[in-house]
Formats: sequence, structure tokens, C-alpha cells
Amino acid sequence: MTYTAAENRYDQMQYRRCGASGVKLPMLSLGLWHNFGAITPFETQQSILRTAFDHGVTHFDLANNYGPPYGEAERNFGMHMDRDWRPYRDELILSTKAGYDMWPGPYGNFGSRKYLIASIDQSLKRMHVDYVDIFYHHRPDPDTPLEETMAALDHIVRSGRALYVGISNYKPEQAKKAIAILRQLGTPCLIHQPNYSMLNRWIEGGLTDVLREEKVGCICFSPLSGGLLTDRYLNGIPADSRAGHDPRFLKPDSITEEKLTVIRALNELAQKRGQKLSQMALQWVLRDEVVTSALIGASRPQQILDNIEAVNGPAFTQEELSAIDAILA
Ligand SMILES: NC(=O)c1ccc[n+]([C@@H]2O[C@H](COP(=O)([O-])OP(=O)(O)OC[C@H]3O[C@@H](n4cnc5c(N)ncnc54)[C@H](OP(=O)(O)O)[C@@H]3O)[C@@H](O)[C@H]2O)c1
Repeated sequence: MTYTAAENRYDQMQYRRCGASGVKLPMLSLGLWHNFGAITPFETQQSILRTAFDHGVTHFDLANNYGPPYGEAERNFGMHMDRDWRPYRDELILSTKAGYDMWPGPYGNFGSRKYLIASIDQSLKRMHVDYVDIFYHHRPDPDTPLEETMAALDHIVRSGRALYVGISNYKPEQAKKAIAILRQLGTPCLIHQPNYSMLNRWIEGGLTDVLREEKVGCICFSPLSGGLLTDRYLNGIPADSRAGHDPRFLKPDSITEEKLTVIRALNELAQKRGQKLSQMALQWVLRDEVVTSALIGASRPQQILDNIEAVNGPAFTQEELSAIDAILA
């Protein structure tokens, strides 16, 4: 059936400026890392995307190797593009990345100019778009000169393949250098994409200071720690959960009793605040405006509906923030 977006979609979301750029991002963005490969029905994918956009989620995040198999999420997105999104292209921020293992041999991984330019060309073909809004270097490459990688990003923008560029998984010092090189080249770094959640607070040890200082945006990935910071695993591992049916990255034996004790304590606190743990976890990563957007995943539309509520949740009191710190300590 032809898709028409909900008329009130922009009333339900709040948008934050991405660093000092002209771009605003929704406080919640949707990533296609899981649930958009060959193992998820096309209709499920379609309803997740539609539900997100109908609630003001204007940003979809991909990467060359999202699947399984590699490339499949972009290929599926290309079909969604043709069916649903062409009329809304100018209302969407689409991103993709290269930096991890993608194709065999020495040119399908890390950060060479050769890899990045070939990869974005492949991504654009798979996604059925002429350009992406943001192209990321997915992770730092210890062996390629940073100047080469950043010059490739600059070229990707100047050649019209992307409007903006970003970096992901760069440590504070590496990020600072990359941001300086990009600035010098005349293609400012729009955004950094780090892992950040209540269970992984590494960015508080310097990265947020760099991004604030440099006025670069921050979109944090896996804010629900892949589903751990939800009510999913409170009573065992459901068969239809990530750890239950697609444990490539969330291994069942990583869900330890120790982690569950923390998650249960957080869940109780969320209940006292009158919200779900997932909603509290999302609100928590967004509590400092240095974080532009929380980049979530979803396996079903209802999760999007639940998560959207986080945008309007009750503000944290100082006591609640201290209680969270104590639980996480
Ligand atoms: N740059 C990078 O290196 C990098 C790395 C990883 C991810 N990312 C990006 O970040 C995006 C999000 O990553 P993620 O999927 O790990 O994020 P996440 O939001 O931490 O986890 C998403 C998972 O949590 C569960 N969930 C979500 N909402 C829920 C709710 N309301 N109630 C119960 N369970 C809920 C679902 O799992 P179930 O399947 O169990 O339902 C869902 O698939 C990716 O798609 C990708 O775009 C980037």
C-alpha cells in the first residue's frame, strides 16, 4: 500500500542542533544495523521505518556492512527508498559508513582513500540514492595516515557523494586531530558517533569535552546497550530477543547475574519515575546537550512508540542522577 506520512509527525519529536552546523537532528534516530538484513521480513522493516518517520524520526543510519550478509541493509533500504521514501528524500538525513571489514583483499577495510571512495559508490548504488547526507569513517585506522583518510572524506563531499562527514569510534585525541584536518580542508566535521550508554560511559573521560570545545555534534550508538537497558532480559532470554535469535554481538553469556543486578536496580528507579527502563536510559544519554541524538535500534514498531516517549519524560532530579551513578559505580 502506498505510504503517506502522518501529518502531525513533526509535533511529536524535538530536534537538537548538531554542533555549530546548520543541521538539526531528532533526539532519537534510527539505526539499521540489526533487523534490516536477510533474516527480518521486509514488511517488519517497512513498518519500523514508517513508524519512526511518522513520529518525527528524520534520521536513518546505515553502514556498508550492515546485514547479514554485508550490504544487505543498504540493499533493503534501496527497496524501501523506491517504495516509500523518494517523496520524502528532502525530509530525511541518511547516513552510511566505511571503515570495518567489507570485501576481501587489502582494499575493503580500514581507512585508505581507495577503500572509502569505492565503498561510498557501492553504498549509493545499493541505497538507490544520488548522495547521502552524512558519510562516516567508521573507525580509526592505525596504519593509514589520518591526512589521507580525512582528504578522502573531503573529496567525497566535494564530489557530491555526501553533504557532510563524520567520524565514529575515534578516541578524544584522534578525534581532535581529525577535526582539525577536516577544518583545514574546508569540510568541517559535522558529527562524531561513539558508543554511549549507562553501561558504557567512556565518552565522559574526555571525548565530550573535545566535542563541546570543537562544536561538533554527537550521536551516541547503542544507548540501550543492544537491549540490555530495557525490560527484555529481566526474566531470562526471550527467543525473539537479540541475544536469543541473533547473538552475533550480544552473546547470551555476556548477560551475567552481575549485570542483571544493575539492570534490575535501574528498572526499579525507572518505575519510581513512572517510566520504562528503556525510556529512562534514553533520557539519561540525552541529559547533556552535547549529545545531539540517541541512535537506537528496534525490532518492532512498538519499541519505537515506547522509546519516543523518552523525549518528553520527567526531568531528572539531582537525587535521581546520583542514585543512577551509585547503581552504576
Ligand atoms: N558506529 C558504530 O560503530 C556502531 C556500532 C553499533 C551500532 N551503531 C548504530 O547504532 C544503532 C543502534 O544500535 P543498537 O541496535 O545496538 O541500539 P540499542 O538501541 O542499544 O539496541 C536496540 C535493541 O534494543 C531492543 N529495544 C529497543 N527498544 C526497546 C524497547 N522499548 N523495549 C524493549 N527492547 C527494546 C531491541 O532488541 P530486540 O531485538 O531484543 O527486540 C533493539 O533491537 C545501529 O543500528 C547502528 O546504526 C553504530
